[in-house]
Amino acid sequence: MPDLTTTYLGLQLKNPLVASASPLSKKLETVRRIEDAGASALVMYSLFEEQITHDSYELDNYLERGTHSYAEAMNYFPDMGNYNLGPEPYLEHLHKIKQVVSIPVIGSLNGISSGGWVDYAHRIEQAGADALELNIYYLPTDPDLTGAELEEDYVQLVRDVRAKVKLPIAVKLSPYFTALPNLAKRIVKAGADALVLFNRFYQPDFDLEELEVVPNLVLSTSNELRLPLRWIAILYGRIQADFALTSGVHTAQDVIKAMMAGANVAMMTSTLLENGVGRIMHILTDLQDWMEEHEYESIEQMRGSMSQQAVAEPAAFERANYIRALNTFDQYVR
Ligand SMILES: Cc1cc2nc3c(=O)[nH]c(=O)nc-3n(C[C@H](O)[C@H](O)[C@H](O)COP(=O)(O)O)c2cc1C
Repeated sequence: MPDLTTTYLGLQLKNPLVASASPLSKKLETVRRIEDAGASALVMYSLFEEQITHDSYELDNYLERGTHSYAEAMNYFPDMGNYNLGPEPYLEHLHKIKQVVSIPVIGSLNGISSGGWVDYAHRIEQAGADALELNIYYLPTDPDLTGAELEEDYVQLVRDVRAKVKLPIAVKLSPYFTALPNLAKRIVKAGADALVLFNRFYQPDFDLEELEVVPNLVLSTSNELRLPLRWIAILYGRIQADFALTSGVHTAQDVIKAMMAGANVAMMTSTLLENGVGRIMHILTDLQDWMEEHEYESIEQMRGSMSQQAVAEPAAFERANYIRALNTFDQYVR
């Protein structure tokens, strides 16, 4: 049987399948089923900065930069109150989850401004989390705010959280950066042990009858794997950190691609919401079968084997392939 073990954030994991932050961690019963289905670790849903510091000066200052950012940051759910009860129940729930499962549990903090709320990183550590995922997201709408300023805020937040905890820290990013490798390097230098690529946001839609902007939650498909796949393949070997791939992991093939790009773990939410958490078991079986059929002995053996530094044609990840891909559409021109 192939060796499916992997390491992530200094944790020894029995396989690379991790349930990413989602409401699936809200019920202890579901969390147990996630473990029973074979997940090697679980990321808890996020505790949002907005829930900790409603009236915080730092947050107000931050959000003043663009009035729409607040709504956008809360874009997971129209009514935040229903998603998550607040800081104290979050910590209690984390503590309970730790009691009912033996797989590692990663707490999740979601915010942007530096400030007192960052103390919750320490509270999450005290509540028993095995690691911390920091989800940083800000949608800049202010034309005077530069990319350099915003990136420095991200890096400073990582430094602040690093100063609060001994736990391993993973930073979950969106793909919307001009020079991602440079930001990744600075975030790791600031104290992150892993990068979680990428967070996926639900773009608002327009209701044409009501003339309202409406949140529209569409789950991912495997097609969305390509964005994180490309970036992990580029960063692997260049940035000294672990990588978790999130967005578009639905099948064993997706997991294999993630490993070959250089990821330590492949995270899932959409497929588990769509098909139930039992899906993990099927993906694990398919993963084993595929590895046996293709004579891979271990996950370790495949890690990074298709990264940019490993492939025969590194330009495949860059502009050259773009032009080639465009040319393939010539046949459709009538
Ligand atoms: C309903 C729902 C709730 C989510 N809540 C969180 C959250 O609280 N914190 C977070 O970092 N990501 C959250 N996510 C993002 C997922 O963890 C994941 O990164 C994203 O859905 C992409 O993975 P997928 O293609 O497997 O769905 C949520 C996703 C969904 C669909």
